Amino acid sequence: MSATIIDGKAVAENLLIKLKEEIDARSREGKRNPSLAVILVGSNLASSIYVRNKRLACEKIGVKSIAYDLPSETSEKELIQIIEKLNNDNEVDGILVQSPLPPHINNDVIFETIAPHKDVDGFHPKNIGLLAIRQPKLRSCTPYGVIKLIEATKLSTRGLDALVVGASNHVGRPMGLELLLAGCTTTICHRYTQHLQQKVELADIVIAAVGKPGFIKGNWIKPGAIVIDIGINRLDNGKIVGDVEFDVAKARAGFITPVPGGVGPMTVATLMENTLFAQKLSSK
Ligand code: GUN
Repeated sequence: MSATIIDGKAVAENLLIKLKEEIDARSREGKRNPSLAVILVGSNLASSIYVRNKRLACEKIGVKSIAYDLPSETSEKELIQIIEKLNNDNEVDGILVQSPLPPHINNDVIFETIAPHKDVDGFHPKNIGLLAIRQPKLRSCTPYGVIKLIEATKLSTRGLDALVVGASNHVGRPMGLELLLAGCTTTICHRYTQHLQQKVELADIVIAAVGKPGFIKGNWIKPGAIVIDIGINRLDNGKIVGDVEFDVAKARAGFITPVPGGVGPMTVATLMENTLFAQKLSSK
């Protein structure tokens, strides 16, 4: 058996086309195009690439991108002042502060400063809380994008055993809430988890969000399982790989996402969907 590859690039491309059509239609009705402020602090190489991809997606579908490229010495207070100005600007629909931030800036303080209705990353405690009580509004881009990839398999998720490996605030935890919302019996594993292999062997859906190349062994995968790899790891030879031992897992899984070309493009496309949604929220 060899898994069907879930083509994240194609699913993301289709979503971007649909969003562009909707934005164009709204524009014909006289509505202004949605706008997204993307704030980059410092010059982390990976962050610069992610931010460039986000800005390119904006350009592609007619979202106005407002760029803030700030020096790494920017103080927490200065960053808060910029966010507060954007919170009060009616022409700005979404605000994204790329992480990681320099160590002198408190991430939690910054993400809580963003107005919840402009929080297109879905990181604000209010938005995480709404997802937890089954009333999602702005949903974290990567976990929500993963749900769209699972939906692309056309399989019903109700009652499936889902396993998330990695319990970060921005990915693993909201991913667990999304899977719960999708009707899965959900387990979130973390650094203190015991018997990880046994848990993976029983899972119908495995989501890897660890950040360690090949951490999930291919021969742990239950035959026919859905395997979603959120990891993006650069090897010494420059190759980009995920957290799952892809070739072996592919021979056992029913569906699997590649790295690159799986979850990454969906994160960006979902951010665009959230930006349009944020505009609709604020014009209500
Ligand atoms: N850094 C890595 N991924 C993300 C993301 O999805 N949003 C933000 N704001 N920062 C990130």
